[in-house]
Amino acid sequence: MPTYIITGANRGLGLEFVRQLSTTSTTTNPPTIIACVRSLANTDLTALNKLASNPSNGAKITTHELLTSSQESIDNLTKSLPTPTSLPQPLILLNNAGINAIPSQSSLTITQHDLHTHLDVNVLGPAFVTNALLASGHLQRNSLVFNMTSGMGSFGKNIVGDAKTTYAISKAALNMLACHQAKDLEGKGVKVLVMDPGWVKTVSLFFSSWSPVSFFLLVFQVFSVCMSSVWRTGGVAWRG
Ligand SMILES: NC(=O)c1ccc[n+]([C@@H]2O[C@H](COP(=O)([O-])OP(=O)(O)OC[C@H]3O[C@@H](n4cnc5c(N)ncnc54)[C@H](OP(=O)(O)O)[C@@H]3O)[C@@H](O)[C@H]2O)c1
Repeated sequence: MPTYIITGANRGLGLEFVRQLSTTSTTTNPPTIIACVRSLANTDLTALNKLASNPSNGAKITTHELLTSSQESIDNLTKSLPTPTSLPQPLILLNNAGINAIPSQSSLTITQHDLHTHLDVNVLGPAFVTNALLASGHLQRNSLVFNMTSGMGSFGKNIVGDAKTTYAISKAALNMLACHQAKDLEGKGVKVLVMDPGWVKTVSLFFSSWSPVSFFLLVFQVFSVCMSSVWRTGGVAWRG
């Protein structure tokens, strides 16, 4: 089974990926999950630790610190990981960590600081984490990079008039980053996906409560896509 590196794994979709990967598989060869959280000291890790201590399918889960907007933290992660040869392949990187810090912000109230903050986390974070794991040799032939985008960043869907301007701009930029990553990594045999989960009721981004049903459907669909022809062709966008 693959090795999964999941950013933003302490809550929301990231935590649910860990939960489903560590509970639903019936394989005799369980996955290795590297769950990354912004801060080991200042994050509520109760739910993640519970999964890590008792994965029902025998998954090997370790928790690592990764502030995706800090190059120093990214470098520390690559140093703290097991060597590439000791990790089961293929390696799947889920660039899931993201922010929608000012949902009420429109194009008329946009600020330089707020746009920079969203670009740092939602665009440069996935770019720099990917680049560091390439340089360390963890991302290699047959690896998959999976960037979590949003319909808010789609020109095709053109979801405007609902504020969230800085978030939308950052996700549009992430989409283009993924196109370039797919092209740039083609020769190395690394596939790149950009996926929009649709609306999933996590606590902080858009909703005041979350739905286990939509969580289950999303994660099931995401991994169905990963294991389908997209796995072989790469560089594809998908929406839940
Ligand atoms: N939920 C939806 O309906 C929806 C729709 C479209 C796209 N998405 C995308 O899906 C992804 C996950 O969404 P979600 O709803 O699960 O969000 P969430 O509940 O707000 O969780 C976000 C996660 O990202 C982490 N994070 C934020 N900034 C970080 C940083 N600089 N370094 C490391 N970790 C950081 C958070 O850590 P802390 O706990 O420490 O803050 C948290 O673990 C995001 O990229 C989001 O844009 C979600």
